[in-house]
Amino acid sequence: MSKRKASQSPEPQRPSKHGRLSSDDAPETPSTSTSSHSSHPLRYPPTNSAQVIKPVPFQQPTALLTFSYTPQRVLEFTNSALRYYIDPPPGADLRYGYERWIKRPEERTRLDGLLRAIKRVMQKADASAGPGSGSKWLQDIAVVTWRGIMTKILTAPYEERDRCELNVMYVNGTLYIEEHLSDARLLEKEDLAPKQRVQSYYGYSFESWCTSSRPGVPERMEGHPVGWGGDVDTNVQWCSVIKTKLGDDRLIIGGEVDCVRERFDGRTDTFVELKTSMSIRNAGDEARFEKKLLKFYMQSFLLGVPEIVVGFRTPAGRLTTTQTFKTVQIPRLVRGKPGAWDPQVCFSWGHHFLTTLKSIVSAPPQTSSNSEDDAGERVEPSARVWRVVFEPREGVKVSLLDETGVRDSKGGEDRVGILPRWYYDLAASKDVEPTSDAQSPLKSSGTTPASTATSHQGWNI
Ligand code: A3P
Ligand code: MG
Repeated sequence: MSKRKASQSPEPQRPSKHGRLSSDDAPETPSTSTSSHSSHPLRYPPTNSAQVIKPVPFQQPTALLTFSYTPQRVLEFTNSALRYYIDPPPGADLRYGYERWIKRPEERTRLDGLLRAIKRVMQKADASAGPGSGSKWLQDIAVVTWRGIMTKILTAPYEERDRCELNVMYVNGTLYIEEHLSDARLLEKEDLAPKQRVQSYYGYSFESWCTSSRPGVPERMEGHPVGWGGDVDTNVQWCSVIKTKLGDDRLIIGGEVDCVRERFDGRTDTFVELKTSMSIRNAGDEARFEKKLLKFYMQSFLLGVPEIVVGFRTPAGRLTTTQTFKTVQIPRLVRGKPGAWDPQVCFSWGHHFLTTLKSIVSAPPQTSSNSEDDAGERVEPSARVWRVVFEPREGVKVSLLDETGVRDSKGGEDRVGILPRWYYDLAASKDVEPTSDAQSPLKSSGTTPASTATSHQGWNI
């Protein structure tokens, strides 16, 4: 694949078909068109505790860099949005400041911020280890995604309610995964019922009560109670990008970090996650809380956050108590209880899922018809966009997006599939390191006709 071709528009990818995933635990089901998601060939593993799971190691995350979003939602490679943990005032009112909440509009969260961070890491590698080092580093990365998405993937075997849709591209050996939100889902998120909106605010307000611009000193702002960290503006975020490994797959994950304890020296070991939850009054509440702990745990574990401070509250938003949890100890708290979860089920599933997904999206297109776009240019297989649907309690389906789907996934911007064109050109280029082609499963993609893939049979895992 030449750089010139890589920068060309990935035009029509017409008929879309389901990727058929067959495995020991996933009997083959005939594939149908994208519009009918009737089968779930990749089934979740059982979540009862009797099973024996082959452990898949998850490496301790290492911080690569941090960045901030300003109130104007501008991304800058600074720590301007970093906050320091401080104990909240007893009985704090989590409804405080609700009317002044500057709420970031719901939007499709693209990978762009994370991709800019990756470019920066590559530039640093080039500067320190010579030109081409950054590209070489990227070719070794199996997955690039946000922490929230990785949490959804890993906890899917336990998810009982929420459906999740993802868009995926496979470029030069790396999976890029973003969440797909339909217009209807976006509207739904923006149009929260007043009660839900207030409850959502409680979480942000807790962050304000628990953080300060200086370590160890409660914020004192004129016209506000002592300890109020400032009115909530959900545009502002401090984010960390880490690298880690699930099995043999190297992952780059980015996500928001709520604050640090006392200092930040570039590592993750002072990171603190803040969460709110209803006060526990009976056994039912306790069981519900223990279930929620899976998400708390995974969300923090993935970014290397060692500590979670939970603020328990009344229904009216009055803080009752706070409790600190050490992330790595959380699985032990639920072990052996009814409805217990096991992180190994999640890691093992995540590894199986990623391996399967990679085998589907890296397979060369099977037919050579329609291998040219309207302008007569070859369509790059690495410009294909795949839709992955997680159906709670059932399983996962993968399908290739058709022309309309790809157009929608671009959102009318200068993109190749879901990726900004500037990044696609950077990541798809193989010009930098000629000998590195062997590392890339898509080495021959430039000469393989992109097709409309009328069928995706024969994938085995
Ligand atoms: P809580 O988690 O304390 O409820 P996060 O902890 O993931 O950084 O999220 C911060 C806050 O954002 C949450 O605080 C919650 O208030 C809000 N939030 C996160 N996900 C949400 C969702 N799906 N719907 C509504 N609010 C959400
Ligand atoms: Mg939080």
